[in-house]
Amino acid sequence: MPQPDALLMNLPARLRQLLGNEAVLDDPALLAPYLVDHRRLYQGASPAVVQPADTAGVATLLAFCNNEGIAVVPQGGNTSYCGGATPDESGRQLVLSLRRLNKIRSVDAAGFSMVAEAGCLLAQVQQTAADVQRLFPLSLGSEGSCQIGGNLATNAGGTAVLRYGMTRDLVLGLEVVLADGSVLSTLSPLRKDNTGYDLKGLFVGSEGTLGVITAACLKLFPAPQSVATAWISLPDPTAALTLLGRLRAASGDRTSSCELVPQVALDLVLQHVPGARDPGVARAPWYLLVELSSPADDDLDALLTTALSDALEAGLATDAVLAQSATQRAALWMLRESVPAAQSRAGGSLKHDISVPLSALPQFIEQGSVLCKELAPEGYLVAYGHVGDGNLHFNLNQRDGTDEADFLERELPLKRAVHDLVASLGGSFSAEHGVGRLKVGELERYAPPIELELMRRIKQAFDPLGILNPGKVLR
Ligand code: MLT
Ligand code: ZN
Repeated sequence: MPQPDALLMNLPARLRQLLGNEAVLDDPALLAPYLVDHRRLYQGASPAVVQPADTAGVATLLAFCNNEGIAVVPQGGNTSYCGGATPDESGRQLVLSLRRLNKIRSVDAAGFSMVAEAGCLLAQVQQTAADVQRLFPLSLGSEGSCQIGGNLATNAGGTAVLRYGMTRDLVLGLEVVLADGSVLSTLSPLRKDNTGYDLKGLFVGSEGTLGVITAACLKLFPAPQSVATAWISLPDPTAALTLLGRLRAASGDRTSSCELVPQVALDLVLQHVPGARDPGVARAPWYLLVELSSPADDDLDALLTTALSDALEAGLATDAVLAQSATQRAALWMLRESVPAAQSRAGGSLKHDISVPLSALPQFIEQGSVLCKELAPEGYLVAYGHVGDGNLHFNLNQRDGTDEADFLERELPLKRAVHDLVASLGGSFSAEHGVGRLKVGELERYAPPIELELMRRIKQAFDPLGILNPGKVLR
């Protein structure tokens, strides 16, 4: 452990002088939750967590850190799957929590936009939109704890990408504090502004390495008036894709979610998640959770029922149940959204967040399953996720009675084989979870050299001293 130098020893006191008492935590017990990532892959160290009350406070902090050469790790709800918001082990990186920037600055229902600060919980943004009969469609299992700033910084995906796109597609403008403390504000609701480079676009998905997002002007949509949800038994992933294509056409593209869940994942949820209830359909190797929604008062249940009976007749589905109430709908969604929690309760797991072109998905599942059997015999595959986006969480769990260390040792060779297969099919090794610290090596291996070179030049231009989230995305 390196010895703290004079600068670091005095740092909390100097930060208090700059930003006030409430903005600085240095009690080890209070720091602890900020120093470990959501998956507990990384245990970091830090002299302090700084939580400014406003954008001016973030600007003061960054100007100070840039002058002193102190690294800053921005953190939202700390739900990264890739260690993107955790300081390293050196004890020299400050954590910048955006938690106190939690105001909705304005809502414009007529203009279909909202300005929210980075520390607003995603659920708070969704509710604020719903209160004015609007929809903010980003939807994630962690929406009760993740923050919109983190969603933006990581370009989060979730369960409504099929219809509304990734977080990137939901942004009209951003307010960003740059490494030297200057504030770039493009917080405008303009839908058309064709003036030069898309600067704001650079920050979305940059994982806090180019600037710190402090607020965003977000796109809203009409609130859904009708929703229909079904849990469907299927023979195989090919049937899922054919069924999705039929549903998109039959519903006039009102299909908002299409999530694939294998039987093995449903079993894990039923076993490990209190309150989870069997959906009551015929057992099948695969299930699809499908949701249609419309801002008009449409009979989507009738539409879905007809589409599903056609699918049953065509052998694309073997059984299905439609949610008859909001409670049943929530119970079906709970089964899907609890898969990650059930997986972690079931023991050690290995994760891959991949995407391939839709047409290559069945081939990927087939060949990837063979790789898993060969390279990680102590594990079993739990592949689930956003099949409508070609994005699967191609995860493995440890088999009962096997040694955890043996299983976890399979990680590197398996990851290499799975990601090589993904690359050969024209896919991505990180479909929606970003790069963080976990996948820096993967980016170096799979990104075309010209892309890496441009990313490095952009980083150099925005953060010449390298104080912003060092070691994440790029080494
Ligand atoms: C999900 O879709 O449930 C999440 O992205 C989490 C995961 O990778 O398991
Ligand atoms: Zn996901």
